[in-house]
Amino acid sequence: VSDLVRTAAGFPYAQPIPVNDINDCYYYHTMDVPGHGVVAGQWDLRGKVDEYLGGVSVKEKRVLDIGTASGFLAFEMETRGAEVVGYDLSENFSWDIVPFAGNDIAAYTAQRREQIQHLNKSWWFNRAALDSHARVVYGTVYDIPAAIGPVDVCIFGSILLHVRDPFMALEQVCKLRPQTIVVAEPYPPRSLRSFVTGGRWRRTPAFVPDWRTKQPVETWWSFNPRSVENMLRILGFETVRVVNHAPPFYGKPIPMFTVVAERVAE
Ligand SMILES: C[S@@+](CC[C@H](N)C(=O)[O-])C[C@H]1O[C@@H](n2cnc3c(N)ncnc32)[C@H](O)[C@@H]1O
Repeated sequence: VSDLVRTAAGFPYAQPIPVNDINDCYYYHTMDVPGHGVVAGQWDLRGKVDEYLGGVSVKEKRVLDIGTASGFLAFEMETRGAEVVGYDLSENFSWDIVPFAGNDIAAYTAQRREQIQHLNKSWWFNRAALDSHARVVYGTVYDIPAAIGPVDVCIFGSILLHVRDPFMALEQVCKLRPQTIVVAEPYPPRSLRSFVTGGRWRRTPAFVPDWRTKQPVETWWSFNPRSVENMLRILGFETVRVVNHAPPFYGKPIPMFTVVAERVAE
């Protein structure tokens, strides 16, 4: 429905999805949901927002949270005084699945679309429970509608690794004229370190899919701070900070970095 609204009226925001049952929701983020206590998700960013966002102040800023998932960051930023627009896939859009020859790509895509529905529902469930006014737009990172209008800050939290064309994703948000872009990514795992270091970090990301193992199917790239900075610099953004942190994924700390970049005066 949201997509129809978008094309019909040039109004990009999704219509609220009423969700009555929390069991219909897929939680990506662990959240404190009023009336439901702590709801466990894959990642627990509670108490870690400052480092995850690289210490960016969002007070009185208009923020686009790209790949908003269950919305933990979106709702936290709203609490800190931001006007937040979430952005994510819906069931009408596909994940960039790695098309390993011989794999049933259609089955992966269908499975993902099914899961996204429940992920989107968690966002709306949280929005109602937290009495939030945040809005959301559905689409792919390759087609971010200009109708969202100007934003001050764009957050790319753990999304660039999952998209086939991360540079295009960054380039797309530039049409919304952000002053600040925040990119949070996991550090390369030990097995890929040799591709991305050479005494110091290389400027190139590692291409992760491996034809021998046919894994992973949903991750394309492994970045380091320098490779993220290079892409942002090409687009006219200069790094002001790189923050290291290690939020827990199912309880296990995962080394990550956050690059905060500001638009260079033209
Ligand atoms: C790993 S989660 C990160 C969630 C959150 N940003 C964070 O940092 O905690 C990736 C998110 O990006 C979304 N996503 C993946 N591929 C996308 C694409 N091609 N276009 C838009 N969103 C995408 C997923 O649906 C999911 O919500």
